Amino acid sequence: MYCVRKVTNDLYWVGANDHRLALFENCFPIPRGVSYNAYCLLDEKTVLFDTVDWSACRQLLENLAYVLDGRELDYLLVNHLEPDHAACIEEILLRYPKVKLISNEKAFMLMRQFGFHVDGHECIEVKEGDTFSFGKHTVTFVGAPMVHWPEAMVTLDVTDGVLFSADAFGTFGALDGKLFADEVDFERDWLDDARRYLTNIVGKYGPHIQLLLKKAGGVLDQIKYICPLHGPVWRKDLGWFIEKYDTWSRYAPETQGVLIVYASMYGNTENAAQALAVSLCDKGMSKVAMYDVSSTHVSQLISEAFKYSHIVLASVTYNLGIYPAMHDFLMDMKALNLQNRTFAIIENGSWAVKSGDLMQKFVNDELKNMTVLNERLSLASSMGTDKRTELEALADAILESMK
Ligand code: FEO
Repeated sequence: MYCVRKVTNDLYWVGANDHRLALFENCFPIPRGVSYNAYCLLDEKTVLFDTVDWSACRQLLENLAYVLDGRELDYLLVNHLEPDHAACIEEILLRYPKVKLISNEKAFMLMRQFGFHVDGHECIEVKEGDTFSFGKHTVTFVGAPMVHWPEAMVTLDVTDGVLFSADAFGTFGALDGKLFADEVDFERDWLDDARRYLTNIVGKYGPHIQLLLKKAGGVLDQIKYICPLHGPVWRKDLGWFIEKYDTWSRYAPETQGVLIVYASMYGNTENAAQALAVSLCDKGMSKVAMYDVSSTHVSQLISEAFKYSHIVLASVTYNLGIYPAMHDFLMDMKALNLQNRTFAIIENGSWAVKSGDLMQKFVNDELKNMTVLNERLSLASSMGTDKRTELEALADAILESMK
């Protein structure tokens, strides 16, 4: 059965939702599912903007057949070649043998690399600034390299002000009937997943996102809709979401507050983390989020690290090193280029306390533009009352650094 929604008078969402996939990119948990968005324009010519993951191909085909209602598909426009959007290209070519492909040079190269048999079909190669008319609707193309792959581009329908933004402005989470961001409580129910999606998938490429935002800035007044490849379509409050993207891609904190991530084997380091959280809240800073590094997926920790201004790392010493899960978190922060945060450290060890020095060295040497506070809480096995002064000094230092 088809499941489509109208975006504008001429444009339909013909994508699909996926609740079966446990790990996006076989890496990131998606308990709320994910949508693969594809769009069909009905003009003098008919156009499909991107396809979907192979697992959702049948739904796409049913949706497309319903919307086309017997018409031919004239064009398949490919903005992004990653298989969660491009896997069905060949199937579309088989079903609609006269369809012409529109994309850029790198995307056509990747199509062949992935083994899609596009040769024999008309392949129209476009580049940034080119325009193309489908009748009433004219589109123009803007390169978006590394947002998220090098071939990525976005397409602006200048007639209706629809930006097909590829992975940009996407989010985890299945749509389940709702299509528009103004049909959900986005800030309450979607923002965390939007940040987790962006920071983990493209966090490393903040400068490339900034470049795309700069290009979009020149035509911002023309953009009425943002149609990403995942998650809701934006037709209201576009500026609010664009500002979030700007913040995340500049590696600026979204919230003045404290993220506490602890690695605790028997609860003693966790106890110190809890005591610090209590002290911070007692002193008036209640924007505190705390996670056990062992039971929280690192993609969520990354999202929170991009959110908060201050990060407390609390770790036991393990094999004379940093606890493995904490080390993974540090490595991920490095890989995703997180910058401009203030760190505080809690260390623990029963005979050789090493984790504090090692975490400090990692933050100083491996991460960019980070500050590590001089105050540190150092524990031998557990936190006794004799450590109260050190704990309060650490909380005071965190608050002082926020001024
Ligand atoms: Fe959703 Fe980069 O693909």
